[in-house]
Amino acid sequence: MRACGRCVPDGHFGAAALIAEPNVPPASAPPGGDAADGAAHGVAPVVTLAISDWHPSVAPADSDRHAGVLENGGVLALPQLAFGLDARETRFLDVRWSDGHAKNISLDGTRLHGAAGAAADLAALAAMIERFRRSANTLVAALFPRYGPWLAGARTSFRPQPASRRPASWRKDDTRLHVDAFPSRPNRGQRILRVFCNVNPAGEDRVWRVGESFEAMARRLLPGVRPMLPGEAALLALLRVTRGRRSAYDHLMLNLHDRAKADLDYQAASAQREVRFRPGATWLCFSDQVMHAVVSGQYMFEQTIHLPANALYRPDSSPLAVLERVTGRALGR
Ligand code: SIN
Ligand code: FE
Repeated sequence: MRACGRCVPDGHFGAAALIAEPNVPPASAPPGGDAADGAAHGVAPVVTLAISDWHPSVAPADSDRHAGVLENGGVLALPQLAFGLDARETRFLDVRWSDGHAKNISLDGTRLHGAAGAAADLAALAAMIERFRRSANTLVAALFPRYGPWLAGARTSFRPQPASRRPASWRKDDTRLHVDAFPSRPNRGQRILRVFCNVNPAGEDRVWRVGESFEAMARRLLPGVRPMLPGEAALLALLRVTRGRRSAYDHLMLNLHDRAKADLDYQAASAQREVRFRPGATWLCFSDQVMHAVVSGQYMFEQTIHLPANALYRPDSSPLAVLERVTGRALGR
């Protein structure tokens, strides 16, 4: 199938799987280009692609253009790319498969976490999540050949809980705008690419807010971030708070995550807009770069992919490069 890089038929999200907030009119699509929205308003642009196959054929120039959207902090939305569940899998669209402790059910290699049930059922649940992992990785390899060597390894999640469920703490509250950064897993500037798919059986959208550009957010919030203390990274690693040593980059990313979530004025007043992903829609973004918050929704798959800087098409746009420019310091170590 050669479907990449075309407008959805009506040229904007409204009638497809994605709806722009009513008071933010969709940006008009360039002739023959992708349907884009958001950039003109200073928030993460959302670009819609008419792809309906998990293994699309994509011309090199289209790969480069789509990578430009993602790596410059945009979201790629594929409203026609559904992940179909078969008759034996739809039973998993039920919160009773959650173990009641973890927020998500996740597959890490072959190990299933956060699920409860009989062994045979859990094996079938893991197989369903593994099927999504393969589909998401196939899609990313086809869209972005340069990312291909880095697809294995990261975990896949199935999210049967209502996204608006009350979190344990404000730090874990993903209904607040944030970039992803993990306290226990330093990544030294490796990227966090995520593929999402809404599989809600009752017609419920996954609703997100997306915020201002990474650089605008960093310039605003960095002045409040304390420097890393001498010996802090070594101590955290020694105490096994972190798996490996936290770099200056990890310290800043974690603090930007926390400062954004803790600042209710920032949450309310920073540039943002609502984006809706209908059931049957797939979308991708670098979640370490796009300011995002989930508003509502239930039943979603998510695949994480970690990419080193040398896999990027535009390394100068990465959060590491932006933070090094803004602070004037090397941060990768
Ligand atoms: C997040 O990554 O912050 C949450 C996204 C979602 O659950 O839709
Ligand atoms: Fe997040």
